[in-house]
Order: sequence, then C-alpha cells, then structure tokens
Amino acid sequence: MKSEHLSHRNFIVGLIIMAALVVTMVVSIAMAQQRSADDPLTGNWAVRSPGTDGYVRSSYFNLRQEGSKITGTIRATQFYYKIKESTGGPEGFTLIATMQDGKNERRVQYEGKLVENELHIGRRNRPDQPITEQVAQRAPDGEGAMPARVEPPALHKVPYNGLAKTPPMGWNSWNKFAGRIDDATVRGIADAMARSGMKDAGYVYINIDDTWESGRDAQGNIQTNKKFPDMKALADYVHKKGLKLGIYSSPGPDTCAGYEGSYGHEDQDARTYAAWGIDYLKYDWCGARNLYTDEEMPAIYQKMGDALLKTGRPIVYSLCQYGRLDVWKWGADVGGNLWRTTGDIRDTWDSMTGIGFRQNALAEFAKPGHWNDPDMLEIGNGGMTDTEYRTHMSLWAMLAAPLLAGNDLRSMTPATLAILTNREVIAVDQDKLGKQGKQVWKAGDQEIWTRPLSGGATAVAVFNRGKDEAKVSVKWAELGIVKKKVVRDLWLHQDIDTAGNEYAVAVPSHGVVMLRVK
Ligand code: GLA
Repeated sequence: MKSEHLSHRNFIVGLIIMAALVVTMVVSIAMAQQRSADDPLTGNWAVRSPGTDGYVRSSYFNLRQEGSKITGTIRATQFYYKIKESTGGPEGFTLIATMQDGKNERRVQYEGKLVENELHIGRRNRPDQPITEQVAQRAPDGEGAMPARVEPPALHKVPYNGLAKTPPMGWNSWNKFAGRIDDATVRGIADAMARSGMKDAGYVYINIDDTWESGRDAQGNIQTNKKFPDMKALADYVHKKGLKLGIYSSPGPDTCAGYEGSYGHEDQDARTYAAWGIDYLKYDWCGARNLYTDEEMPAIYQKMGDALLKTGRPIVYSLCQYGRLDVWKWGADVGGNLWRTTGDIRDTWDSMTGIGFRQNALAEFAKPGHWNDPDMLEIGNGGMTDTEYRTHMSLWAMLAAPLLAGNDLRSMTPATLAILTNREVIAVDQDKLGKQGKQVWKAGDQEIWTRPLSGGATAVAVFNRGKDEAKVSVKWAELGIVKKKVVRDLWLHQDIDTAGNEYAVAVPSHGVVMLRVK
C-alpha cells in the first residue's frame, strides 16, 4: 500500500516536471520568434555580384541586432570591417564600420533597410553623394567568414633567383584594361609586341594583372575564370612568340579586385603557375591586410619567395605592397626582384611626376636583380601629352625602373611607339651597372638628374616641371663631369656641341632633355 502510494506520487511529480518542461520550451520558442521578429536584421547577408567572367564576387554583412543596436562585421572585396556604430533599425539604419590597415584606420558608412526578407544596402562615400544600393539575401552562417590566421614563418634569407639582372621590361594589363582583360586580348597584345618592334627593343614580359582568377577545385587548385579558358595554352602561345607570361595574386584571401588570393595555398599556387609556364608573379598585399600587420609583411612575402624557388622554374618575383614598411630595405631578402615603392599611378602629369620625382631617396637600394618599382607606365593611355610621356619614359629610365608598358599595344600611335622604343633611352634604363639616378641640381621647377652608367658614361636628364619653356644651363663641372668627349641628345638622336663649360638648352614645359655623356 505504501509503495503504491509512493509510485502514485512519483507519477504526479513526473507529470508536473514534464508540464513545466513543455511550458519552458513553448515559452522559449515564442521568445526566440519574438526576438527574431524584433531583431530581424540578425543574420548573415550576402550581396552576390556575378561577373561576365563567371566569377561571383560576394560582400557579406554579418549582423547582430539587439533592439536598436547593430553589431557585427562587413566583408567587401579585400576589406573586412567591424561595425563600430549604428543607428536606426529594420526600416532604415546606418552602420559605421572600421578596420586597421597598416598604420591607418579605414572607415566606411553603409545605409540600408529591410524590404521583406531582403536587405537593401549601400555605401555612402561622401555625404553629398547618393548611394548605390545593392540587395543582400540571407546566406548560410559562416559563409564569407575571414579564414583563421596562419602564423607567419620565421625569417630567413631567400636565395637570389638569378633573374632581372636589369630592370624587367614588358607590358601589364592593369592600367589600360583593369578587369576587362581576357585571353584574346593578351594574345593580341603578344602579337603586337612581337610585330611592332617592342620585342626587338627589349620588351619581353606580358603580364596579366588582377581578375583572371576564379575559385578553387575540390583539391584546392586555383581555377581561371571564363576570360582565361586555358592558361597553359596561353603561355604556350606567348612563349612561341619569344615572349614570357606573367600573372598576379595576393598573399591574402582576396585580391584587390575581390578575386581569390593565394592565402593558405602559396606552395600549391606556385606549383600551378610553374605547371602553366608562368615566368613572372606580381604579388599584391590587398586582402592580407585583414590578417597581418605591416611588420609581418617580410615573413609573408618570404613564403611566396620560397614557394617560387621550390618550383625550380625561373619566375620573376614582383612585390606590390605600395612601399610600406620601407620595402626597399628587405625586398631583396625575401626573394623580390622588384618592389613597388608607391601607391597606384594614374594617367596624369601630377600622379606620374608626384611618384617619379619622389624616388630620389631610394637610389641606393636598387641593384642588379633587385629594383625599386615606381609602378607601370601610362605612356600612350591618353591622359598626358607626348612631351609629358617623354618625361615619363626618361624619368623611369633615370630611375632604373622596370619598363612595363600599360597601354593598348594593338592600337598605339607612331608617337607612342617611338617613345616606348627609344633605344637610347632604354639603354640607360637597362645599363648593366644597375645604379639608380639621383637629383643633382634644382632651381624652381627645373631639375637635373644624373645616373652613372657602365664604361664611365653618365646619363643627364634636364627636367622642366614648370608651365613655361625654360632655359637651363648645364654646368658640366657642377655635375662632376670633367672630361667629356661625346655628348648625345637621346631624344634628338644626335651629338651636340660639347665645347665650353656649360650647355645652355631650352626645355619645353613639362619636358625633358636627356643626354648621354661619354
Ligand atoms: C592594386 C595594385 C594595382 C593593381 C590592382 C589590381 O591596386 O597596386 O597595380 O594590381 O591592385 O586589383
């Protein structure tokens, strides 16, 4: 009887517990429903932008809404921001997000609203400019998350690969074509380079910049997108013309244009490039900024330097990190044959001269095998006059800079071709002594730069950065030139009268007189 009474009581207790559990469950489901109804912005949202090249670039808004507060992250092309401030809610909100980029903080402002189950969102670049709205859909949790950080390797010196004994010469797709580069265009450029006399003048590398990439296959092998159906076949084509093929990637998960980078696949990508027959790699920091500090750059660049060497194929290694962390001091140690010293060039007089004339302090870091790279040429792209392009070519030659044409070689004017193929100026650039030129005299807008050449010769460039023609007197002794036999004007292609202690010459506005003194 006693035990019967007990089990009856247990049954009642069990029933009560079960009922309590059911109530708790129902309440918590209802609460969760209530929360998501109250905080409908919470979730991972993706804007998908399919390109004609078949590659879908996605931006991610990983949001957490708690009432009137929105936190989370934004990943857009190469940038990964944390939301720092928010106002508003589903019917209209503003997000301010920041990220650390080297020494600088980047800041973006997005504005959006929930429309049914889509996020209509856009970036406001300037208060007075309208935003371009994009539509984000809900994406699976975790998609687009920043990959885990791989610790940088310990530093060691990467052996010299023996390449680029003189500054590399060739062509690069970015300045003219940016994302509009494809297989057919590259073939056309290779044909033009071989046919036009550019190849004979020394141009050899045909470099594909950003936007050739797609995703990875199941084994992690990098894939090309529709614009480049067969990279190996393209390399074969270029090689048959007696030219070499270059490619582009990033140590980060994303390239600057938001395509797939080499992060976590460095050795594998280097092997792929070698198997395709690639001869040159431009390796662009871009998305690596989300995972590494500037101080870690040498180790990260060293990784690809090692990887390229291990392939056994001669591949010129071009560092592109905009000159941060005084790259000229360590670029050679990580295997670099050249390193960008500045941000991107534009096809304007101010951009070109702003970059070119700022290179003076870096002269001592250039040497055979290892060059300062003030960025690719804009000659022939239409933003400057031919006089200004002659200055561009002359200045780059004085700087022992890589000569990578950035125009459409298939349709250049005779004047552009003549500038790019001036063999006497090219000979200065390619001088085997490999000493970069320096400014030796300046008065107002006029400057004289000299560059020591092999065989005891000297290149002298008289620049006029002013708005009017200027008369400049080149006083030989002041330039340290005491014995001179032949002085040749490299743009007029003629020897000049060398009697006297000075040479007075009229230099056109934005122009140059370039001499070789023997
Ligand atoms: C960066 C580089 C450019 C070019 C683009 C491609 O801006 O500095 O030279 O490679 O990326 O996205």
